[in-house]
Amino acid sequence: MLRTPVCDLFGILHPVIQGGMAHVGTVELVAAVSNAGGLGIIGSGYYQAEWVRAQIRLTKQKTQRPFGINVPLTSPYVKDVIDVILEEGVPIITTGAASPKPYISRFKAAGMKIMPVIASVSAAKHMEEAGVHAVVAEGMESGGHIGDVTTMALVPQVVDAVKIPVVAAGGFADGRGLAAALALGAQGIQMGTRFVASAECVAHSRYKQKILEATDRSTVVTGHTTGLPLRALKNSLTEQYQALEQAGVTKEELDAFGQGRMHLGLIEGDTDEGSLLAGQIAGMIKDIKPVKAIIEDTIAEAKRIIASLKNF
Ligand SMILES: Cc1cc2nc3c(=O)[nH]c(=O)nc-3n(C[C@H](O)[C@H](O)[C@H](O)COP(=O)(O)O)c2cc1C
Repeated sequence: MLRTPVCDLFGILHPVIQGGMAHVGTVELVAAVSNAGGLGIIGSGYYQAEWVRAQIRLTKQKTQRPFGINVPLTSPYVKDVIDVILEEGVPIITTGAASPKPYISRFKAAGMKIMPVIASVSAAKHMEEAGVHAVVAEGMESGGHIGDVTTMALVPQVVDAVKIPVVAAGGFADGRGLAAALALGAQGIQMGTRFVASAECVAHSRYKQKILEATDRSTVVTGHTTGLPLRALKNSLTEQYQALEQAGVTKEELDAFGQGRMHLGLIEGDTDEGSLLAGQIAGMIKDIKPVKAIIEDTIAEAKRIIASLKNF
């Protein structure tokens, strides 16, 4: 066992969290992660409340262990989604894209644990003051929407700035990463890209294959001009998107161009015209593994490394 305070906070066996991921963080992956002793998190994305309710109910059927839900607070359905989460009783919530402050008292009254995803020291402090239980410090190596500080620089600075537990995210895919995160003062890791490349994840096989083929420099960040930078594997879509950004088209035109692209790439498997969100660590991922093996291998490797460091 490799236990840290986040294991006790969330009632999980291993300090390994599956990041909430729009479209691919569904019951199949979430239940597999929670059943393997990690923390599975449903990605509610921009889905409507009744879809979220169905995912919560299915997850409860597939696992008796704790699981969480991620809510991007910019979702047009955020109010209804939060009502459903409170009605259905989900023990843990992670939030992104905005401050969860307006909802914190309701979450706490329901006994929920709140862990926002943040990308800066100031956001971490703000969240701690607002009364959350932990934060995910997510570096710019991550897949999906990102900030502008690297994991290596961000995590120790957040650890120094707050008293609540910190989970490190961005660039983790094995036990070396977990050991490094613990050395930086984090109490666990959140992985996204590694869990996409799992047997249980519903991501399209062509998208998973692109992750396996990736190198360290296969991702690109688009969307700087919209204020919502996004890391994904380079493909025809990212080239077209960059060209539009360079041409100075409006945010509305970019939004219209990007409409539906995540579903197209992640679920329908259009690897040219769809968005293939992935972190820089994709270059290290060379196999599709069952979730249980991903978690157990990560823990075993971290323990071996931590033990071997005593020789230095
Ligand atoms: C396909 C995909 C979808 C994602 N969707 C979300 C999301 O809806 N909300 C969120 O907070 N983070 C999202 N993320 C970020 C992950 O939860 C996680 O923090 C990130 O992937 C960690 O970096 P890594 O990819 O290097 O492991 C997404 C990441 C990926 C790869």
